[in-house]
Amino acid sequence: MGKEPESQNTFTLINDKTGESYKLPVLDGSTGPSVIDVQKLYAQTGHFTYDPGFTSTGSCESRLTYIDGDKGILMHRGYSIEDLAEHSSYLEVCHALLYGDLPNKQEMEKFERNITYHTMVHEQINYFYRGFRRDAHPMAVMCGIVGALSAFYHDSLDIWDPEQREISAHRLIAKIPTLAAMTYKYNVGQPFMYPRNDLSYAENFLYMCFGLPAEPYKVNPVLASAMDKILILHADHEQNASTSTVRLAGSSQANPFTCISSGIASLWGPAHGGANQAVLEMLDEIGDKKNIPEFIKRAKDKDDPFRLMGFGHRVYKNFDPRAAVLKKSCDQVLENLGVSDPRLELAMELERIALEDDYFVSRKLFPNVDFYSGIILKAMGFPTSMFTVLFAVARTVGWISQWKEMIEEPTLRIGRPRQLYTGPVARPYVPMDKRK
Ligand code: CMC
Repeated sequence: MGKEPESQNTFTLINDKTGESYKLPVLDGSTGPSVIDVQKLYAQTGHFTYDPGFTSTGSCESRLTYIDGDKGILMHRGYSIEDLAEHSSYLEVCHALLYGDLPNKQEMEKFERNITYHTMVHEQINYFYRGFRRDAHPMAVMCGIVGALSAFYHDSLDIWDPEQREISAHRLIAKIPTLAAMTYKYNVGQPFMYPRNDLSYAENFLYMCFGLPAEPYKVNPVLASAMDKILILHADHEQNASTSTVRLAGSSQANPFTCISSGIASLWGPAHGGANQAVLEMLDEIGDKKNIPEFIKRAKDKDDPFRLMGFGHRVYKNFDPRAAVLKKSCDQVLENLGVSDPRLELAMELERIALEDDYFVSRKLFPNVDFYSGIILKAMGFPTSMFTVLFAVARTVGWISQWKEMIEEPTLRIGRPRQLYTGPVARPYVPMDKRK
């Protein structure tokens, strides 16, 4: 477990105009950069901090996930992502994120029982789906359906009751693959498949997506293992946009189902989870290796909104450790399925050229996890519109663990950032007939 932050030293702030100086406490975490505690800054100085994009702002204290972007390190509860991806199952990682440690055998059996107990969804949710157009984007459906869970599970909405919090967490982890698979089935016009609790989490998800009631479906173990890795690699990622959205929504004491729905909404954007869909669309748009230089040129042009999707990361500035693991997995899946996807060759060539180009090298823009996950998911048979849904399935445990950690803090306060106002100052009201 991480040690409690404590003030080791102070940071002195000097107002150049008045010459006044202020001492601010500096807090140390268990590893990583220390933070300057500015909670009393306004009271002491009459100033706010200004940090659009939150590039220098720690918004909370957390014991879940640690990232060192320069060294390409990602750890959950102190375990490296490489070890977890190599040796653990997704549910073991879920246990570590939720409870702080990898489970022993008995804990694992109990956790598996708790999760599988909740895999089915209320039967009336089937009818809820029918309100959506079949051609709706699956993420639009997921935002609505997951938010609607709070209309179905009234018995676990009391956020101050630890048992209800735990049941909600289990329900979300257990039901999210069922809902994601139902969303896919609804989209392609096939019957919903009920979950099978004799299968692993990843196997069951593949079964619910690709199985049919008319014939038996045998889960391919290579695909199940690759799916499990994809789930592990996306399980949590510190205070990114969607996680911060979940925390902010939860800080108002909203129920966990609606908080997770707000996380799904935030994840949908192409700068975040939507990038895996955008990578495939970009590869299709490039079409041929000979067109790569033209697209690289466009990516560098400040007047062109085009960016190389799947490249760059706010935190990782050398490599994305998740991308390194997935690249290997990607090869295995394509070999097992005997798929020679021309998009993979295109992707590899794009990666090679971009990594040699001074624009990308100087800005430390490397392929991120989404660069490879899209190619694997496509080979498995998922349509591109489902890619971000898979990210949401995996990230649900991270969101709910972060939410739970926040609610269990003794001093929960509503999140309420301030601003630098640059609009008009006070002016007289003008009646409509006098307005120009
Ligand atoms: N292609 C071309 N130029 C880029 C790219 C890119 N993919 N990413 C960043 N840049 C440039 C950007 O124009 C800027 O250049 P300059 O300094 O000359 O103005 C510089 O690199 C820094 O970019 P930034 O926008 O300040 O960086 P950021 O930390 O705000 O953005 C990012 C991070 C991930 C949103 C961005 O790199 C991006 O849009 N990448 C493509 C989308 C993508 O793959 N997103 C998935 C992220 S990983 C999954 C997840 O965790 O959600």
